[in-house]
Amino acid sequence: MLSDSYGRVATDLRVSLTDRCNLRCTYCMPAEGLEWLPKPELLTDDELLRLVRIGTTRLGIDEVRFTGGEPLLRRGLPGIVAGTTEHEPRPRTALTTNGIGLARMAPALAEAGLDRVNVSLDTLDPVVFEKLARRRRLDDVLEGMAAAAEAGLTPVKVNTVLMRDINDHEAPALLRFCIERGYELRFIEQMPLDAQHGWRRDNMITADEILQRLEAEFGLEAADADTRGSAPAELFHVRGANFPDGRTATVGVIGSVTRPFCGACDRVRLTADGQIRNCLFAREESDLRTPLREGATDDEIAQRWKAAVASKLPGHGINDPSFLQPARPMSAIGG
Ligand code: 5AD
Ligand code: SF4
Repeated sequence: MLSDSYGRVATDLRVSLTDRCNLRCTYCMPAEGLEWLPKPELLTDDELLRLVRIGTTRLGIDEVRFTGGEPLLRRGLPGIVAGTTEHEPRPRTALTTNGIGLARMAPALAEAGLDRVNVSLDTLDPVVFEKLARRRRLDDVLEGMAAAAEAGLTPVKVNTVLMRDINDHEAPALLRFCIERGYELRFIEQMPLDAQHGWRRDNMITADEILQRLEAEFGLEAADADTRGSAPAELFHVRGANFPDGRTATVGVIGSVTRPFCGACDRVRLTADGQIRNCLFAREESDLRTPLREGATDDEIAQRWKAAVASKLPGHGINDPSFLQPARPMSAIGG
């Protein structure tokens, strides 16, 4: 098992497949993009699948989420999904994507064994989309979400980051849009993970503010706290609203900064260049790529991985005066 000194056990592996992206969301990347990881440093599909196999068959990983950058840019993604779901115990699999290219890929991904997707959608307005993501791709995203639902990659979850005076007026419209289509929407507080270090606490739309905005138009009822488990989203039922399949509609709020859930965290991350990060905000990484390429046995790799998780800190420390943003931006860590 991957346990740490605070009694938490990591069972949810997030694998970043590339640091590249075809959008340039302002809360993530500068307009010109970033210096991408050089190809030889990236794990090959075989290397990556070996680590996934070690995680799932020896270390108790039961859920694998593929992230980026934008994971649909990774060639061979269906093969990676198929390779992940082929052994026992079979982990649950999910993909966090910006949705571009999903319309084309959804059937092949479902066929390969992908269980579900999370799509990022911050606005329904093409003008705001272009301002926010610096590309004109809103229609591709919406088509991608529909195709994912059609292919059975459900529940389709939607991630929204609200930004003051940019898209914060759209919270109710986004919720209505998602409810009508059966997508489970979650609002995420903006975290200090952008490459440009532009995050400002007083500019962040807090979980409290998000709830206020929603409550102005919807009746929300906290869903049973027992169902939360290690999920970061606080879930609410939307009174009087149903998804198309008849279930009561829900909305989630992820207060990463103001309502941290570090005490219940069950995640561990693998970067595209083969480094284990025990936290989004970790300041240290553990290199698995070098031993992998130098012929380490599965056992040796598993030991290193365990040690990497064992030293996980109790919390992200964003609210401490001494907080320092991690050197790697979100796009190179994965969500
Ligand atoms: N704060 C909060 N969420 C972020 N995401 C990317 N950068 C940030 C940030 N600084 C979100 C994306 C995507 C998921 C991977 O994380 O919108 O939905
Ligand atoms: Fe790309 Fe996601 Fe970053 Fe937007 S937030 S630029 S979609 S990696």
